[in-house]
Amino acid sequence: HELLSEINQSVIENKEQLEAFRMRFISKKGVVSELFDHLKNVAPEDRRSVGQELNVLKNRVQERFQEFNTQLEESAASSQTSAVDMTLPAVPNQHGSLHPLTIVRRRIIEIFERMGFNVADGPEIETDWYNFSALNFPDNHPAREMQDTFFVRKSNGEVKDDVLLRTHTSNVQVRLMEHKKPPIRSIMPGRVFRNEAISARAHCVFHQVEGLYVDTNVSFKDLKDTLYHFAKEMFDKDSRIRLRPSYFPFTEPSAEIDVSCFICKGSGCNVCKYSGWVEIAGSGMVDPNVLANCGIDPEEYTGFAFGMGIERITMLRYGIRDLRLFTENDVRFLKQFEGA
Ligand code: PHE
Repeated sequence: HELLSEINQSVIENKEQLEAFRMRFISKKGVVSELFDHLKNVAPEDRRSVGQELNVLKNRVQERFQEFNTQLEESAASSQTSAVDMTLPAVPNQHGSLHPLTIVRRRIIEIFERMGFNVADGPEIETDWYNFSALNFPDNHPAREMQDTFFVRKSNGEVKDDVLLRTHTSNVQVRLMEHKKPPIRSIMPGRVFRNEAISARAHCVFHQVEGLYVDTNVSFKDLKDTLYHFAKEMFDKDSRIRLRPSYFPFTEPSAEIDVSCFICKGSGCNVCKYSGWVEIAGSGMVDPNVLANCGIDPEEYTGFAFGMGIERITMLRYGIRDLRLFTENDVRFLKQFEGA
């Protein structure tokens, strides 16, 4: 019985130990055959039962030996496959990359910073004054509805149309003009919100960069030159721009800015719908009412403003067809901008 428990408890980790086990228990000189040799000294009436017990012991020893043997073979096989092969090239690290919207936002900022614009920031949750009223949107004017505003529900459940998610970054223009004396020369990148169904061409959250330049003698020519330089830096050094009359409550006169199609260079393609031009920004001279609303004397100062969508510029620059790619976080899409 002592031998049985020794057999059951023994641990074998290598071939040497297995061989020692074999020598001790199984070989011709091992304990088991030694015990069988002693069987002849046992009293004849006990010989039968002792013999039976010895057979049990012998079988158990054989069993254990087989177990140990297969154990050793298995662990040898598995340690061979997981062994480190020092000659193999290392698995490359997965690098993260900048989001295309980040790349383009940084590029836009860089271009305007070189022209002397600084970066300004403001809140995404805004009051009606900063998003609309100060910007010359009359009460109940249809232009307010065109912006598909999200209004903010107060903690008591009441919806006040006074607090909203900004629909454009023009709120920062108002805050700048209220708090700073001209000259003001700033751009305002940021998130904006509009209650629109998500599709390839629209999203309820997107990004804008607006620009504002207020000083004495700022003219429409300054606006044109600034955006012309931007278009050449952003898209193609041979870019041309075109201004089309437009309407915004906060600028007068107002213009949409188109850039000559840098994809087909006028020969015709899908991006410019065979017109040779793609729209990149809204712009105009700051309406004197807006200057006055913000405490700036419109007799002394003039200014221009412009606004563009970062998603739109990014789609143009990289030929991206679906706005939803920006928020799906599909690594196959994002990987294409590594090193861009
Ligand atoms: N705020 C306008 C928009 O969101 C863009 C714009 C900015 C137009 C400045 C003119 C001047 O559509």
